[in-house]
Amino acid sequence: MNKRQLLTRIDQAWQALQQSYAGLSDPELMEPGVTAAWSVRDIIAHVTWWEEEALTYLPVVMAGGTPPRYSVTHGGIDAFNAGMTEQRVHSPLAEVLRQRDDVHRRLVALIESAPDEHFVGETRFRRRLRLETYGHYAKHTQAIRRWREQGVHRAGAEQLTEGAILLRGFAAPGGMVLLGGLREVVTRAPFRHMVTPGGFRMSVAMTNCGALGWVTDRTGYRYDPLDPETGEPWPPMPESFFGLALDAAGQAGFGGFVPDACLINRYEPGAKLSLHQDKDEADFGAPIVSVSLGIPAVFLFGGLNRTDKPIRVALTHGDVVVWGGPARLRYHGVMPLKEAEHDLVGRYRINLTFRKAG
Ligand code: SIN
Ligand code: FE2
Repeated sequence: MNKRQLLTRIDQAWQALQQSYAGLSDPELMEPGVTAAWSVRDIIAHVTWWEEEALTYLPVVMAGGTPPRYSVTHGGIDAFNAGMTEQRVHSPLAEVLRQRDDVHRRLVALIESAPDEHFVGETRFRRRLRLETYGHYAKHTQAIRRWREQGVHRAGAEQLTEGAILLRGFAAPGGMVLLGGLREVVTRAPFRHMVTPGGFRMSVAMTNCGALGWVTDRTGYRYDPLDPETGEPWPPMPESFFGLALDAAGQAGFGGFVPDACLINRYEPGAKLSLHQDKDEADFGAPIVSVSLGIPAVFLFGGLNRTDKPIRVALTHGDVVVWGGPARLRYHGVMPLKEAEHDLVGRYRINLTFRKAG
């Protein structure tokens, strides 16, 4: 293999690695358990730090020197990997991706500038390059692919009725990230108990993020670009919220969903939501994406008439229900919540309802 062929080989393996995680949302990239405890993000960071090792030591090999052995410098390869994991475990995803591209570019440039003699036969240079580039990429590409194939079963879609799909646990891997986003939203737009047009205080506390927020008061229901409590626009929809809504809609068969409103409901034990239709949105072409976090609830999913008997669906942390098309205007609600406690959310159920409202 000459230099050109080798560079092509590296590039193909590199593209395959990128392809193996294409389309995953940020929370999915952070989900542990792809290879042992590692997430895709951790794997990307790991591939990058081995490319950095190559950047450091290939020049040493080319100059006829001998790089230090990991057994001597770090107590072995596993210990080196563990140390690096520890060091980079807190790097934000964006930083890991930036480093990935930067280091890879520099490594390719180094190989391009390496004298041809290093590519002839099975040199130490060639061996080290294989282990730290295409051989290494391929190993992790396979692991990520296998993990994604299993994931299809894990996030198995269950049809409730035509057009209504339950994705069990779909949001659980990104739960922490979502709750982080929620904390930011509620510092600017705290939960409040709104009043219905009939004058009743709702037992569910609500807030919103995104361009439009759903509100109710004595004058009726509406979508409002401003939070009536502050007169300010609603906080922007966190990336993690938007990505999840898009992915869940896509998984349920509603591609191209672009929510502009996210209603956030907070239920305490005893709180409930009466049967209602979501019909304050400008058009019913887009689905509703409803994400449950925290303590369990029984979701009621009825028909197109208020009196149609609803089915009961037990929802727990991470479950996502998507309804659209023929199910878009079905009545739905939530039974009074039972007393419970959740590790991440405490004594609450949080529901994120994504809609295309405007
Ligand atoms: C809603 O219909 O707005 C919320 C439903 C839920 O909390 O599951
Ligand atoms: Fe609703």
